[in-house]
Amino acid sequence: MSNARTMSHPDPRPFRAAAPGRPLSGRLGVPGDKSISHRALMFGAVAVGTTEITGLLEGEDVLRTAAAMRALGAQVEQVGPGAWRVSGRGVGGLVEPADVLDMGNSGTAARLLLGLLSGHPIFAVMTGDASLRRRPMKRVTEPLAATGAQFWTREGGRLPLAVRGATDPLPIDYVLPVASAQVKSACLLAGLCAPGTTRVVEPEPTRDHTENMLRHFGATVSVEDTAEGRVVRLEGQPELVAAPVQVPGDPSSAAFPIVAALLVPGSRVVVENVGLNLLRTGLFTTLREMGAALRVENERVAGGEPVGDIVAEYTELQGIEVPPGRAPAMIDEYPVLAVAAAAARGVTRMRGLAELRVKESDRLSATAALLAVNGITAAIEGDDLIVQGTGGAIPGGGTVETHMDHRIAMSALVMGLAAQMPVAVDDAAFIETSFPGFASLMNGLAGCEAMAAP
Ligand code: S3P
Repeated sequence: MSNARTMSHPDPRPFRAAAPGRPLSGRLGVPGDKSISHRALMFGAVAVGTTEITGLLEGEDVLRTAAAMRALGAQVEQVGPGAWRVSGRGVGGLVEPADVLDMGNSGTAARLLLGLLSGHPIFAVMTGDASLRRRPMKRVTEPLAATGAQFWTREGGRLPLAVRGATDPLPIDYVLPVASAQVKSACLLAGLCAPGTTRVVEPEPTRDHTENMLRHFGATVSVEDTAEGRVVRLEGQPELVAAPVQVPGDPSSAAFPIVAALLVPGSRVVVENVGLNLLRTGLFTTLREMGAALRVENERVAGGEPVGDIVAEYTELQGIEVPPGRAPAMIDEYPVLAVAAAAARGVTRMRGLAELRVKESDRLSATAALLAVNGITAAIEGDDLIVQGTGGAIPGGGTVETHMDHRIAMSALVMGLAAQMPVAVDDAAFIETSFPGFASLMNGLAGCEAMAAP
C-alpha cells in the first residue's frame, strides 16, 4: 500500500469509534465548503485584483488547488485561519508550471483545473494519488479537446496526463452524458478564455457554484430550463474582477454530525452556518422523508449562498425509497445515508447510484461492504443499493476498508457511535482531505473519546 500513497500519507492510520453511552449534544461549525473553496481559489487566480476569501476549507484537497494556482503564477497566501488572499493574473494570464501539478486525492481540483488549462497556451503535466489515478478523466478531456487543447493520457484516459492548452481556444457546445458538476464546470472554465458563447446542457441540474461564482466575479452567465435539459451559457473572455468570497460550512461535512445525532439516543446537535444551496441539500430532504427531526434556524444569505443552522435530534427513522433524480443533490452523502438506513425500520432502496462507482473509491461497493462487515444486510441490484434496516440496534464490530476515501471513513466512524460493538477503519488519514479535526469535533459532541486510535 505504501507506494500507492502520496508523501503526506506515508502510513495508514487505523481508527475506531464506539458508542459514547450518552447523547451527543452541543453546537459546532463544520469546515468550509469544499466545492466553493476550490472555485474561490481558481476564480481568484484568473481575476484581476485581489480576492479575499474567508472560511476557506484548509483540507488537503483544497491546499492542492492553492499550490497549483501558485505554480500557475497567481499569488496565494494565507492571512489567518480560513482567511486567504489571491492576487490573480486575469483571464488567459496563467503561466506554464515548472513542474508536475499533483492534485492529490481531489477529482474536483483535477477536473476543474483541466478546464482552465485548456484555455491557456501552456504545457502542463498532472498527476494525483493512487485513488485519483484510477478515476476517469476522459469525461473532461473529451469535451475539452473541442477547444483545440491536446491531451496525452494513460490508458483509459487516466492520470498522469499531459495537456497543451489551445492557443486560440474555441467555445464548447456540449450536452453532458452524465450529471456532473465537475464536467460542467471544466467546460465553463475553458470557456472563459474562448471568444463567443460556451454552452453546456445538463440532463439534470447539478450544483451551480461555478455559475454563481462566475457571476459574482462579473461574468455573464445565463441558465434556462428547456426540454433538452438545463442550458448554461457563458459569454467568453470576460474581465473577471476580484470579489470577496465567504465560504459557508460544507453541507456534505455537516451530514456526519447530523446523522450521528439522529442515531444516538437522546442527542441534540446544532450545526451552524451550513450551506443550503438547493442543489446540495438532497440528504436533508431524504432524512426528513425518513421522519428525521431536522430543523433549519437562522436562515440567511451569506456570500451569495443560502446558509442556516441545522438542528438535529435523535429520531427513530423509517426506511424509504430514494428516487434516482435525487442523486445529483446528494451525490456525496449516500455512504452516510446508508448508515442512517441501517438503523431505520424497514428497507431503504437508493436508486440510480452509477456515479458512486467513480468517486474517490467505488463507493457503491465500499458502502455495501461497510454495512455487511458490521452485520447489516445490504445488496447492490444494478445501480441501486438496498439496505435492510434493523429498526434500532446496529451490530457493528467490523473493520471497514476505506479505499483512500474520506467519506467511507467518516461514515464508518459515525456508525460506530451508534453500534453495539465498536467499528474500526483501516485508515482515517484521508479524512484530512475534506474534514480536518473531524474526530475531535465529534468527541466534543460526545463529551468523551468516542473516536480514537486503537
Ligand atoms: C463536485 C462535484 C461532484 C461531487 C464532488 C464535488 C464539485 O462530483 O461528487 O465531491 O465540486 O463540482 P461529480 O461532478 O463527479 O458528480
